[in-house]
Amino acid sequence: MSATARGATAKKTVSELNLILLGPPGAGKGTQAERLQDDFHLPYIATGDILRSAVREGTQLGRQAKEYMDKGELMPDEVIVGVVLERIASDEARDGFLLDGFPRTAEQGRALDSALVDVGRRLTAALLIDVPDDEVVRRLSGRRVSVKSGRVYHVEFDPPKHEGRCDVDGSRLVQREDDKPETVRHRLEVYHRMTEPLIKHYEDKGILRRFDGARSATEVHDHIRATIATLRLEDEL
Ligand code: AP5
Repeated sequence: MSATARGATAKKTVSELNLILLGPPGAGKGTQAERLQDDFHLPYIATGDILRSAVREGTQLGRQAKEYMDKGELMPDEVIVGVVLERIASDEARDGFLLDGFPRTAEQGRALDSALVDVGRRLTAALLIDVPDDEVVRRLSGRRVSVKSGRVYHVEFDPPKHEGRCDVDGSRLVQREDDKPETVRHRLEVYHRMTEPLIKHYEDKGILRRFDGARSATEVHDHIRATIATLRLEDEL
């Protein structure tokens, strides 16, 4: 066992929260992640946010990502796996992390499992926020995002105080390119084909926790928070 692995194993006496958020596009993963970060002070690693920021900065990763994202396709596994594993191995994620949007394929799931095993760590839970397809379409067609802060709104369910303007910094609210109806339908199809099989993978490992994402954002949050608190207690016993 390497020194890094020994260190990581010893560290497990302190309860470490290594969480992933699973669910279809528009299930509310980002909405819940914002609240869970406040509750548990976990570094938040959201692959969609990382890629959108690379697109804005015009980096090589961003140029490649834009082509896939605009069409609702997934980035190649080898690219995204490298990006995420680097973050998980960083000091910031030493005591836990909250992953959103990764893994999204069986290959990504295997890469994550084996990277964690290599350093004596494991996933605490896979939090599945489930929402039917027609609700996804309703949510994503009404989603608006602040160009500056990235804060997410919904024209009906979570409207800003002033139409078209962010409450936090007054910047413009825009619709994401991949929230156009035809792209949303394709993203859903990709989710069912490529990502849904991961549910069984985590169920078989005994770490899947399901949440009814059709409930209000506050109800979903309460349920997830209570579940994580219980997991943490069980881990400390
Ligand atoms: P990504 O950004 O990860 O998109 P996604 O998984 O499709 O998720 P969304 O951000 O669309 O939805 P969400 O679940 O966070 O919902 P939100 O909280 O905003 O990925 C985008 C693209 O990047 C991919 O298509 C792919 O190209 C690429 N990519 C990313 N990761 C990759 C990977 N691992 N491999 C390869 N490619 C990758 O909520 C949605 C709306 O609903 C909001 O308006 C919100 O206000 C509202 N809302 C939320 N909760 C509720 C509620 N309970 N009731 C009513 N309204 C609600």
